[in-house]
Amino acid sequence: MIKSRLLAARSDLTDLSSAKRILLIIGGGIAAYKCLDLIRRLRERGHIVRVVMTKAAQQFVTPLSVAALTNERVFTDLFDLDDEREIGHIRLSRDTDLIVVAPATADLLARMAGGHADNLATAILLATDKPVLVAPAMNPRMWLNPATRRNVEQLKRDGIDFVGPAIGEMAERGEAGLGRLVEVPDLLAAIESRFSSASDDKPLAGCRVIVTSGPTHEPIDPVRYIANRSSGKQGHELAAAAARLGADVTLVSGPVSIGEPAGVRIVRVSTAEEMLAAVKHALPADIAIFAAAVADWRMATPNTSKIKKSTSDAPPALTLAENPDILKTIAQLRKGRPPLVVGFAAETNDVIAHAKKKLKSKGADWIVANDVSSPIGVMGGERNAIHLLTSAGVESWPEMSKAEVAIRIVTRAAAHLATLKRDAAE
Ligand code: C5P
Repeated sequence: MIKSRLLAARSDLTDLSSAKRILLIIGGGIAAYKCLDLIRRLRERGHIVRVVMTKAAQQFVTPLSVAALTNERVFTDLFDLDDEREIGHIRLSRDTDLIVVAPATADLLARMAGGHADNLATAILLATDKPVLVAPAMNPRMWLNPATRRNVEQLKRDGIDFVGPAIGEMAERGEAGLGRLVEVPDLLAAIESRFSSASDDKPLAGCRVIVTSGPTHEPIDPVRYIANRSSGKQGHELAAAAARLGADVTLVSGPVSIGEPAGVRIVRVSTAEEMLAAVKHALPADIAIFAAAVADWRMATPNTSKIKKSTSDAPPALTLAENPDILKTIAQLRKGRPPLVVGFAAETNDVIAHAKKKLKSKGADWIVANDVSSPIGVMGGERNAIHLLTSAGVESWPEMSKAEVAIRIVTRAAAHLATLKRDAAE
């Protein structure tokens, strides 16, 4: 039973990969080498990849190696007469299904936001009428600089999609933070998910979706708090995927340090009580997905001033109170319950047994269960292996990126909602 479902799940993935024309603009960053692997994987899936390299990109990878992988000539110069005769920048910008910019440097983002057209890459980006997906990569300080923030906001308003950046070590020794190019499997998933929704197929158009994501911080005193290791990656990917399928999405996020998904309304909260209030405020909804790792307890009475450490006193005893269960509260609403309520279950043992109990006790329609003790490092990591529990049984999905998990859960949710609506109409 599980095996046949696994096979069905794998064939869904292949369905997303019908051949497309991708114009990859490689920017000048140390992460440019990752594009070689990206090109190889895109071509393995049958896509046609054309590449434009900026001058700076050619300092990191050679046009020769890119040409060998794409089996096509690589475009580098706006004023190459041969190019203008054979295929000008206008045609390059239009004869494609998607333009991908990776790695997008701070400078390239600034030029895009400013509407520059002083080289082949920027001229194409200004001339195109095709969707553009940008994967930034830069030093974390450059990413957080107000100038880059402004440029990113402007580009998002202009309809440009972003994937990443990711958190991690930088090429510069001792530097770490938000600014790494996302890993190739996630870039691949982001590209393919654009194709699944780049058509007119927006199965969640007109639907409202609420997603909770990240941890909550429960203050002990003004400087300390109770929290957990949730990064918010899975929740944010779910919100992004729902938006790509056309939904009106409210993402209620606890404190996270990852990039914001495009096209969603973000409500930032800190505590579980704030999260519950924000979710209630965002109702009504057609689908509610509770991916946040809400702290189970908060301080019964948080200290209003910093608890002082003193060598003579015993360590302070913290008196805790239980937090509201947001999933349970919404799943058990008598009035205004979303037709599809999805919860998550992070477990370290007997995953399916615990998740089955949770499905019942919380009153959710689906539970997405995962083993957070797994060696793939689910908490904070890029990949996930989940079991989907519904009233029909348990499906165990193969390990995949969190972006792929998200697009598949949301696609399933859209199909389920359509069935519910059809049944109600009959
Ligand atoms: O009970 P447990 O924390 O394992 O349940 C996990 C599920 O319940 C997740 O979907 C989580 O978002 C949700 N939850 C919640 N409010 C809480 C605790 C958990 O919404 N206080």
